[in-house]
Amino acid sequence: MVNFLVFSLCIVVIFGLANGFIGVDARRAFFVFGDSLVDNGNNNFLATSARANYPPYGIDFPTRQPTGRFSNGLNVPDLISKELGSSPPLPYLSPKLRGHRMLNGANFASAGIGILNDTGFQFIEVIRMYKQLDFFEEYQKRVSDLIGKKEAKKLINGALILITCGGNDFVNNYYLVPNSLRSRQYALPEYVTYLLSEYKKILRRLYHLGARRVLVSGTGPMGCAPAALAIGGTDGECAPELQLAASLYNPKLVQLITELNQQIGSDVFSVLNIDALSLFGNEFKTSKVACCGQGPYNGIGLCTLASSICQNRDDHLFWDAFHPSERANKMIVKQIMTGSTDVIYPMNLSTILALDSKIPL
Ligand SMILES: *[C@@H]1O[C@H](CO)[C@@H](O)[C@H](O)[C@H]1NC(C)=O
Ligand SMILES: *[C@@H]1O[C@H](CO)[C@@H](O)[C@H](O)[C@H]1NC(C)=O
Repeated sequence: MVNFLVFSLCIVVIFGLANGFIGVDARRAFFVFGDSLVDNGNNNFLATSARANYPPYGIDFPTRQPTGRFSNGLNVPDLISKELGSSPPLPYLSPKLRGHRMLNGANFASAGIGILNDTGFQFIEVIRMYKQLDFFEEYQKRVSDLIGKKEAKKLINGALILITCGGNDFVNNYYLVPNSLRSRQYALPEYVTYLLSEYKKILRRLYHLGARRVLVSGTGPMGCAPAALAIGGTDGECAPELQLAASLYNPKLVQLITELNQQIGSDVFSVLNIDALSLFGNEFKTSKVACCGQGPYNGIGLCTLASSICQNRDDHLFWDAFHPSERANKMIVKQIMTGSTDVIYPMNLSTILALDSKIPL
C-alpha cells in the first residue's frame, strides 16, 4: 500500500513536470543572452559597476523592488515570457536556479557586454558572450543529469532563445573615448564587418549547442538615446556618428541572418531591426528626455534616488540614459510578436509559435 502510494506520487510528479504543473513551464523553455537590455539580475552577483539593483530601478515592477533589470518595470524578456505563458527564467547566477526550476530556461545576460571580449572592460567583472555560451553548456549538463540526455536535448531544441548585443561594441568600446584603440585600428565600416564576423561565430556556436528558434535583435537607433543626445548631439538631434554606426550595422545584421539561415537550410534565426523612434516616437510625450538621470535630456551619469525622476514613466520612451521604459518595452515586444517583415525578418514570433505548435516536439 505504501509502495503503491509512493509509486502514484512519482507518477503525479513526473506527469506534473511534463505538463507545466507545479510552476514549471515545460511547454517551452526560454533562454536569454546579451547585455543590459535583457539582463535580469546576473550582474547583481558580480563585482561590477554595471548594475541596476538599487532604487528607483524597478519602481513599476510587480514587486516595486529593484531586481537588476535596467528598466522601471518589466523588460523585453519578461514580456516575451508573458507571451509564452510562462514566468521569466531566472538569472543563471541565481542560487535559486536549481532542480525543476531549470526546466523553464535561464537568463545568461550580463549588462555591459558586447560581441567583443574587450567591450565593457571598464565594468570589470561581466559575463562576456563566450562565457554566457560556456554557461549554457554547463546548464545543459546539469539539465541532462536531471531529466536525461534525450529529454534535455528536446528541451533545448524546442526552446525559444533571445540574444541582444552589439550596442555596447559601439557605445562602450569604439566611441567610448575619442581615439579609442578600436577606432584607431578600424575605420567604422571595417569595424562593423569585423563585429559581424565575430557575431557570426557566436550565433553558429549557439546553433551547435542546439538552438533552433533564435530572436536576434539589432542595436536600435543608438545615437538617439538620451546619453547620446547629451554628449554627441546638437540641439536634440540624434548623435550623427552613432546613427551612422547603426545605419551600417543593422542592415548588415539582417544580411548575416539571411546568410546563416540559408547555410543551415532552415529559418532558425529571426532578426529584429527596430527603429523605435520612427515606429513609436510619437506615442510618447518625449522620446528624448530620460525619465531618470541628470543634466541635458537626463542623459548624464547614473539613475539613482538622487537623480531627477519623472512623475509619469509612461510619458517617456527612455527610462534612463540608455534603456527603454516598460511602456516602450511593451511596444517593442508587440513588434516582435506581430511586426511585418521589415521590422522582424523572416518571421515574427506569432508566426514562429503558430508554426511550432503544429510540430510535435
Ligand atoms: C574571447 O575570449 C575567448 C576565451 O578566451 C576566446 O575563446 C574567444 O575567441 C575570444 N573572442 C574574441 C572575439 O576575441
Ligand atoms: C506576422 O507576420 C506575418 C508575415 O509577415 C504577417 O502576415 C502577420 O500579419 C504578422 N502578424 C501576426 C499576428 O501574425
